[in-house]
Amino acid sequence: AVTSKNLFRVVTEPCPVTSNKVTVVGTGQVGMATIFSLLAQGVSNDICMIDMVEDKLQGELMDLQHGSLFLNNPKITASKEFKTTAGSKLCIVTAGVRQKEGESRLKLVQRNADVFKNIIPNLVQYSPNTILMIVSNPCDILTYVAWKLSGLPENRVLGSGTNLDSSRFRFLISKKLGTSTSSVHGWIIGEHGDSSVPVWSGVNVAGVRLKDISPKLGTDDDPECWKVIHRDVVQSAYEIIKLKGFTNWAIGLSAAALANTILTNQHNVHAVSVLVKGMHNLDQEVFLSLPAVLGSNGVEKVVLQKLASNERCALKFTAAMLEEIQGGIKI
Ligand code: 2OP
Repeated sequence: AVTSKNLFRVVTEPCPVTSNKVTVVGTGQVGMATIFSLLAQGVSNDICMIDMVEDKLQGELMDLQHGSLFLNNPKITASKEFKTTAGSKLCIVTAGVRQKEGESRLKLVQRNADVFKNIIPNLVQYSPNTILMIVSNPCDILTYVAWKLSGLPENRVLGSGTNLDSSRFRFLISKKLGTSTSSVHGWIIGEHGDSSVPVWSGVNVAGVRLKDISPKLGTDDDPECWKVIHRDVVQSAYEIIKLKGFTNWAIGLSAAALANTILTNQHNVHAVSVLVKGMHNLDQEVFLSLPAVLGSNGVEKVVLQKLASNERCALKFTAAMLEEIQGGIKI
């Protein structure tokens, strides 16, 4: 205290709160990639990490703190106590079991729903005005589970959904065309998983629709076989899990991009998992990805894309399948 007293003349006390506190639940590969993206991109400088494994938490905390010089002097806290999360603007949930080799996302449902029963009510208790972003799989069903368990309005609960699948899609198309990923526009909607729907009718570069040039684009009788790109998107996670055991970097970057739009009230449009009842003729209470305008209030608007009849059918099929699975979950 003596050194400090002689070093400074105190003018005022520092402000105790920040406006962009983000809690990340789960410090596995996906949680840590998300946190690292949030910090390295300066999306938030107030991060709270929650996990049950204390040594791992402490190790991750120290390792990140030692990077403070290269970041925006972030405040990082780590705890297994949910009270540490109080005042979070956004809570990102990555906790739960992940797919093993060859296992589908849907296989994880009851195990991860059980994990959520402890997590979600605790998060809402300490941050009643938070926005919840679900990353754990199966993402769409767990977003529904989180919505039910939280009691929050639908705008405050979203799943990271096909924001990642859309990125994979745009990357693969851009490789074929020789442009950057951001210069190819295209959307994958529906399930973050095996039944996702590529909206081929909207794929464009500078407003030029590929479908206008090549009417068979994405169909079975397309001589150029563009359909393979969607197959590769669906296979991506399986392939990466086979090669390295898990996926983490792209999903971490995707979650951080969504967080950035929300925390800075940017109103960017992202494909995220939202309550779809009443849109595209869907009457099920399920969450699926559609392009949505995100901001400080979470999901502000959903873009009503002009879908082809086969695309609407595919969404309907998924919605029915998810509704059936949801009926079997014990929440
Ligand atoms: C992914 O698509 C496994 O859902 C994760 O990378």
